[in-house]
Amino acid sequence: MKFFVDTAEIDQIRELNDLGMVDGVTTNPSLIAKSGRDILEVTKEICDMIDGPVSAEVVALDAETMLAEGRKLAKIADNIAVKVPLTWAGLQTCKALSDEGTMVNVTLCFSANQALLAAKAGATFISPFIGRLDDLNMDGLELIEDIRTIYDNYGFETQILAASIRSANHMSDCAKIGADVATAPPAVIKAMANHVLTDKGLAGFMADVEKAGIKIL
Ligand code: G3P
Repeated sequence: MKFFVDTAEIDQIRELNDLGMVDGVTTNPSLIAKSGRDILEVTKEICDMIDGPVSAEVVALDAETMLAEGRKLAKIADNIAVKVPLTWAGLQTCKALSDEGTMVNVTLCFSANQALLAAKAGATFISPFIGRLDDLNMDGLELIEDIRTIYDNYGFETQILAASIRSANHMSDCAKIGADVATAPPAVIKAMANHVLTDKGLAGFMADVEKAGIKIL
């Protein structure tokens, strides 16, 4: 499973990228607003740092303006994936941009039917939001499973990009189900390293290091 990092914070992306943990980056208007940066500038900076796809989201609601915005975003770098919402206008924009050879990430997906439409419209990525479904006592992981089944049934090449990831467990669950990509905040990716038995075991080793005066350097 590929790891995308879901942030527009340059330092956090760099830290994970230096460790080989970043296969791509996703942003959205809320993350850009949080960064306090200009969307075009910060997106360019991320594209220069990362080899993989960098999602940058349109902000218009009508297809004509979305397409113009998408074309402008696509000019930033070759690794831009234009992010469009899963609305009818977003699907129209997805089809037009995919036909032009631009990668498209269709976002705000909450149903298998929406994912099916995005694949038909030529999406490179479909972004089901699992955390927001879980927030409503619905089953985000079940949606990933359903999309996996549908895409595999018909050989759709659209990649399932699990989004709205809230926990380290979400990451391993998505990997078990067969999501192609999961995008997560840096803190969630770091939390994947944590285990209480690792901490306990290390504390035991350190006590023995102290007792025996073990030194290496
Ligand atoms: O990639 C979409 C993601 O940023 C949404 O996450 O936590 O706001 O539901 P969240």
